[in-house]
Amino acid sequence: MKIFVTGGLGYIGSHTSVALLNSGHDVVILDNLSNSDKSTIEKIKQITNKSFSFYEGDIGDRKLVGKILHTFNPDHVIHFASLKSVADSISMKKKYYDNNVLGSKNLFNEMEKNNVNSIIFSSSATVYGNTTQVPINELSPLAPINPYGENKVSIEKLLIEKHNKKNWNICILRYFNPAGTHSSNLLGEKITKNSANLMPNICKSLLSKNLKLLVYGNDYDTPDGTGIRDYIHINDLVVGHLQAIKYVASNNSKINILNLGTGVGYSVLEMINTFESISNKKLNYSIVDKRVGDVAISIADPALANEALNWNAKFSLEDMCRDTWNKFLYEHELRK
Ligand code: NAD
Ligand code: UD1
Repeated sequence: MKIFVTGGLGYIGSHTSVALLNSGHDVVILDNLSNSDKSTIEKIKQITNKSFSFYEGDIGDRKLVGKILHTFNPDHVIHFASLKSVADSISMKKKYYDNNVLGSKNLFNEMEKNNVNSIIFSSSATVYGNTTQVPINELSPLAPINPYGENKVSIEKLLIEKHNKKNWNICILRYFNPAGTHSSNLLGEKITKNSANLMPNICKSLLSKNLKLLVYGNDYDTPDGTGIRDYIHINDLVVGHLQAIKYVASNNSKINILNLGTGVGYSVLEMINTFESISNKKLNYSIVDKRVGDVAISIADPALANEALNWNAKFSLEDMCRDTWNKFLYEHELRK
């Protein structure tokens, strides 16, 4: 099948593109390189030994998106392209709205003009906001607590409108906490000085004795007091997308909204212990105040996805931590 991948050079997009190419699909990627690097093109080709077309550009570029859709005429679109930093979405609200919501709107309108009506969209558990439901199912109310989460809800609504008016085949995938990398160490999440997420911060602190990990709160209503999340291996997430393509390809003309998670949660202290045993290093950390906007527990109820997609997450927490740590060390060695 012909798949148009937006944001295909990013973390989840590049892993998914590898799997699509390895499964024999034709792939065209559009990415504006705002959070990725052109060298990823060669890395994807190196891993798969397959070729694909790449367009450097923006999902908000009406002419370019229209041209790609017209000439490639894809069977499905997988829409990853987005800015994704919660903190930046607060300080740069308009930039996030323009890029994420207006960019998506443009993509969907161009799809409609070119009679492309099948799409898989990357949403996020962040749409559920401060819910206390454990585990969270897809019927939990949408209550985003930051502009990034609001963007995701707005885009989901745009898709629902398209479905209601045009009978599109849609799969909205709400990811929980993606982690880990491809075994080649060639792909992975861009880790910057300002990364706010737990896994990169643990890796940075493991490597540098002077850099303490700040654990945001130990008085949550959880067994050890620290926050619990549902971490899901990128390989499992990717298989979820391959299954989602098969599912929408069955032309069910339905709007499918599915959580992609494991259904199991781990606390910050459990994450620290796992990383320590994998790296054979002791982590320097201190407990500080809770981070504003954090929930105590975020765990998916993945039952709907399990059934609809005939899919289950298979990789363990150790797999995720080992892959993340190995990739981190690999990049550190390269930088030396
Ligand atoms: P990423 O930043 O690694 O990848 C996104 C890619 O989209 C980047 O290559 C970036 O250059 C590109 N991009 C951004 N805006 C664009 C635009 N206007 N036009 C064209 N390209 C553009 O992020 P990721 O982790 O791979 O996330 C992929 C999707 O999954 C995003 O929609 C994100 O919101 C969603 N998501 C990610 C996580 C996570 O933890 N990684 C969790 C839940 C949901
Ligand atoms: C965060 C985003 C979410 C996004 C997700 C992507 C916020 C509020 N939420 O989710 O929208 O979809 O990343 O993966 O930013 N922690 C520490 N110390 C750290 C970093 C994190 O203790 O240095 C704790 C957090 O308090 C939390 C857990 O680790 O309990 C996981 O945090 P993180 O990796 O940032 O993910 P989320 O907060 O779930």
